[in-house]
Formats: sequence, structure tokens, C-alpha cells
Amino acid sequence: MEIITDIASLRTRLKRESSIALVPTMGNLHQGHLSLVQLAQQHAGCTVVSIFVNRLQFAPHEDFDRYPRTQTTDCHLLEQLGVEIVFLPDEKELYPVPQEFQLLLPAVADTLEGQFRPGFFRGVAIIVLKLFNIVQPHIAIFGKKDYQQLHLMQKMGQQLNLPIEIMAGETVRAEDGLALSSRNSYLSESQRQQASHLFRTLFHVKQKIEQGDHNLRLLEERAKCELAKQGWKVDYIALQQRKTLLPANTSDTDLVILGAGWLGQTRLIDNLEIALTL
Ligand code: PAF
Repeated sequence: MEIITDIASLRTRLKRESSIALVPTMGNLHQGHLSLVQLAQQHAGCTVVSIFVNRLQFAPHEDFDRYPRTQTTDCHLLEQLGVEIVFLPDEKELYPVPQEFQLLLPAVADTLEGQFRPGFFRGVAIIVLKLFNIVQPHIAIFGKKDYQQLHLMQKMGQQLNLPIEIMAGETVRAEDGLALSSRNSYLSESQRQQASHLFRTLFHVKQKIEQGDHNLRLLEERAKCELAKQGWKVDYIALQQRKTLLPANTSDTDLVILGAGWLGQTRLIDNLEIALTL
């Protein structure tokens, strides 16, 4: 496995490759990331995993400074999987000058995560577009755990005519249902016990809907109360149309329930797809 830190060397190295898959990450890799890497490996001859904690997608009060940086372990895990290339640039490499050029994102980027983390998707879009331009992959893999991010990256690919297939990787969960996330490592033991309530609450709503309860707004409100009772500070629980991420109506059959909230200083998100047969 090659660890490459500069853009010029990466470009030269990738000239030899005819099919490239990119898995963009911020490191602190867990089984969820590794499953994305394995998906990449099934679809391309050369897998590039980027590890870069992107300051631009963190608001000043967020966890940029304390975001876990575990590059040695990360590289070890990737080597064990047989990854060809890790791209490990520093901030100067990717942002040598202040990032003045920005992208204007669609309105959906201001909802859900975008409502509670203003500027987040702008930062994500810039770094991902940079990585796409640098790596020029044929495929890029994003996890469904960050459902809205995946949605926006698919939209970006489509609307900017990027010659890249955006592929979705399934969420990997702990035994109690908690979606694996780098931020789970912030949780205390007792918070870790509370954490699976996010998944359980979403799953309960999913079951209710599958059983024919179509009172979507009431289901959302009840789920918020339920999570609050379990010690969560809830940002949102939202039943949306899967394809547009707009609020779902009772006649919709292709849904996703998304949720986000805080346990102490730690913010977690999760979602579940709901396919109804009428
Ligand atoms: O999902 C992430 O880890 C990040 O948002 C990404 C896509 C690597 C961009 O920094």
C-alpha cells in the first residue's frame, strides 16, 4: 500500500490505473468505513482511500479540534484490506490559499443537517469536488449513514455532469442497532447505553408506518418525545421522501426517516429507509 501526501505524486501514480474507486473519509476508521472500502474493491482495480479532516465543514464551535486523528491505525487497517493507495494530504496541500470559490447548493442542503449545521454541506461539497478533481475516480463510495450527504453528492454528480458513479454503502450497526460512527468514540459508558435509542426510535416509527399508521407528523412528534425521555436533546426526526428528501406525505411509498440529536456534547445521526407496498 502506498501512502501519498501530495497531489502531484498522486496524479502521476494514478496515470497507470484504468479503473479507480475513491472512498473519501475523515479517518478514525471503523467497520462502516471498511465495508465501503470492500464495496470499492469489488468495483475497481485500484482503490484510493482519502483521509482528511476537512476544517471547512466544521462550524467554529464544532468538534474539528477534538475530531479523532488515528492515521497510523487507519493505515494499518487499510493495508490489511489490501487497499492500493491512501491519500493523506495536509491542510496546505488541499487549501494552499483561502478557499474563495464556493458552490451554491440546492435548497435541500439547508434542511435537516443543513438547518442545524449551517455551512456543513458547502464544506463537504468543496472538499469532495476537489478530491474528485484530484483523483478522477470512476466510482466514489458514500455511506448511507450520512444519507443527506449521499443524496447531495448524487445530485452534484448529476447536475455537474461528473463522470463518476456515486455508489451507496449500507450502514453498519453495532449489535444493539447503533450505527457505527467515528463520533461514537466520544460517548461515555452510560451515553453508549442511551445511544441505541436513536436507532430503536427510528425503527419503531418504521414499524408503525409499515403496519399502516400514516399519521406522519404525529409519529415524528412522538418519536422526538420518546428520545427526549431517554435523555436525548433532539435536533430533528423527519419522515422524508427518499428520492427528494422533501417531507413525506401519506400517499408516499418510498420514504426515509432521519434523526439527529445530542447526548451531552456528542451529536449523532441515523436513518432508515422505508419501502411500502400498497
Ligand atoms: O463523510 C465524511 O466523512 C466527510 O463528510 C467526507 C465525505 C469525507 C468529506 O470530508
